[in-house]
Amino acid sequence: MSDAEKQALLASFPAPYNTADLANGEAKFGLCRSCHTITPDGANMTGPNLHGVFGQKAAQNAKFRYSDALKNSGIVWDANHLDEWLAKPMTYLPGTKMSFAGVKDAKDRTDLIAYLMVETGHKPQ
Ligand code: HEC
Repeated sequence: MSDAEKQALLASFPAPYNTADLANGEAKFGLCRSCHTITPDGANMTGPNLHGVFGQKAAQNAKFRYSDALKNSGIVWDANHLDEWLAKPMTYLPGTKMSFAGVKDAKDRTDLIAYLMVETGHKPQ
């Protein structure tokens, strides 16, 4: 996808994601990169590959061993759930294997989620 196509996709998202800063989102993804890939067919590492995660039920990657907490969560990943999850994963879902403190700043989460939506092939309805 070219940068122009990414910006067009971004503009099609609902607020506040349509005005997110993709460069900051990419920088914040640095917090996730040690555990997650986002490219199609990217490897599972400590965490599962995240391509196509939007609109999908949690814990669908057949090759990844999820916690029972995530498997039984009933979550369908959308921007709102991601925002709550990324703020404080271990409080949002006690028993999760994602040992990550969270992204405190709400604007950073917005930018990161917009970046993930663009990079993981999200198609808003
Ligand atoms: C220390 C490693 C680690 C870091 C850092 C980390 N994660 Fe995770 N992540 C995991 C693990 C492990 C799981 C599986 C959790 C479970 O099974 O309870 C997970 C699960 C997820 C899921 C659910 C995937 C699914 O298939 O349902 C999402 C979405 C996610 N992480 C996003 C992120 C984002 C975005 C960041 C950066 C802000 C991040 N993670 C940082 C390890 C990590």
